[in-house]
Amino acid sequence: MNKLLSLIEKLETEHSLSLDEYVCLIENRTEESAQLLREKADKVRREIYGNTVFIRGLIEISNFCKNDCLYCGIRRSNKNCDRYRLTKEEILECCDEGYGLGFRTFVMQGGEDAFYSDELLCGIVSRIKEKYPDCAVTLSLGERSEESYRKLYEAGADRYLLRHETADSGHYAKLHPEKMSFETRMNCLKTLKKIGFQTGCGFMVGSPYQTTEMIAKDLKFIEEFKPDMCGIGPFVPHKDTPFANEKGGSAELTCYLLSIIRLIHPAVLLPSTTALGTIDGNGREKGILAGANVVMPNLSPTSVRKKYELYNNKLSDGNESAQSKANLAKRIESIGYRIVTDRGDIKK
Ligand code: 5AD
Repeated sequence: MNKLLSLIEKLETEHSLSLDEYVCLIENRTEESAQLLREKADKVRREIYGNTVFIRGLIEISNFCKNDCLYCGIRRSNKNCDRYRLTKEEILECCDEGYGLGFRTFVMQGGEDAFYSDELLCGIVSRIKEKYPDCAVTLSLGERSEESYRKLYEAGADRYLLRHETADSGHYAKLHPEKMSFETRMNCLKTLKKIGFQTGCGFMVGSPYQTTEMIAKDLKFIEEFKPDMCGIGPFVPHKDTPFANEKGGSAELTCYLLSIIRLIHPAVLLPSTTALGTIDGNGREKGILAGANVVMPNLSPTSVRKKYELYNNKLSDGNESAQSKANLAKRIESIGYRIVTDRGDIKK
């Protein structure tokens, strides 16, 4: 424990460890080191954000996707996926409902679907911003050209989420078809940041072929890239993918990594993800206790919710739905935090 203790103290003061040190901190973890990390992560988060938790209304606009990521349930070759896309009007209705419920950030997420031209998306973004100038718009629509990202930014989009998935190029190649490139993904992230988006990266915990050394690389990448947001969640197998029979990631390691990321970047916006809530009944709460300060309930129309199935048993109703905000608020209060009606920008 002495070795771990000094690594945790170093991380707390320097916000950085070497790759070997990250590996050591992860491989030798104990309930004791997890507890210490949680306490330190919670302390720095409270110094910046108090006990507030930000909420985002997640609108899953389309499950059409041109990509064929080996882990993902909405991959192009999944013939069992019942495809849908939302119209501008439907998306705006979600925002109307979300605004009434107290959401001040709308996240439009979807597969890479060419149906959503720059023109269509920019029209949707600018309409949301016009109607709700006090709200932030976050996009999570995959890889697009620099020109496209620029247009979306100029139309008023504030933030963009694009998980890097893994910071190891060899690992990236094992999770994605040959057509997709690690370099392109990393370049998109740099471009988004350069344009001025509050930018989010992230990765799956326990994805097939992932080693501790790879996780250390993810942490080093996060350290250096300095994202405003960072989405991490356990890998959860989906039955209609090549990874159907692979093992899923654990809530325990996900929470451990949430604490580490909080200490790397004390002000980062860190969601307690749906995947974490899916594999563990108390996952959302455990994520917040470990250092997460964002939750993203589902605001998609109920008729399509089950269709956006990235992995098996993905939660979409009950406590995951925006409509159950009161219930969610109660659960969050029961662990000592509170949901606020706020855009929830990063405190710099
Ligand atoms: N398990 C967990 N997360 C997944 N994602 C996609 N498929 C899965 C899965 N099977 C995550 C990816 C993607 C985000 C939208 O969802 O990291 O970036």
